Amino acid sequence: MAKEITIIGTTKKEKYENLISQIKHLLSDETDMISGLSNFLSAIHFTFNFLWTGIYFVKGDFLVLGPFQGPVACSRIPYGKGVCGTSWKRKKAIIVKDVNKFPGHIACSSKSRSEIVIPILNSKKSVTAVLDIDSEKLSNFDRIDLHYLKKALKSVLKFFE
Ligand code: SME
Repeated sequence: MAKEITIIGTTKKEKYENLISQIKHLLSDETDMISGLSNFLSAIHFTFNFLWTGIYFVKGDFLVLGPFQGPVACSRIPYGKGVCGTSWKRKKAIIVKDVNKFPGHIACSSKSRSEIVIPILNSKKSVTAVLDIDSEKLSNFDRIDLHYLKKALKSVLKFFE
């Protein structure tokens, strides 16, 4: 039977708390990476109505587009380029309040105003992918998003071992 996501809560924290428990349930017995990541991204995307929510996989010197929700996006991002490539290089999450002020930002959509990128590390501490979320609103992401998205990512780490 299909498992559904119900959006509960009014504050960002409440929405994330509920989202995370639903993601845990949704992915508890999923073993297929594409299936699991697709549902994971859809649950996040439609809880907050983001512009774009997706995963890029590290393949050689590039990040290659993986499952996502939202408009068509750049399919390859070089190491160290854009917000995603910089997050990969630094092995650190990056919150960009205004994408126009990030030197080298890669604009896949002219509607994107702010974004958050979180690297996904395997057990050997190598970056294997990045989670990239874009918003049409300026300054849409803060430490609350970072905290809860990192928590949510725990449910998909099993696909990156
Ligand atoms: N803005 C990103 C590129 C990916 S798209 O936004 C989906 C960046 O500069 O890394």
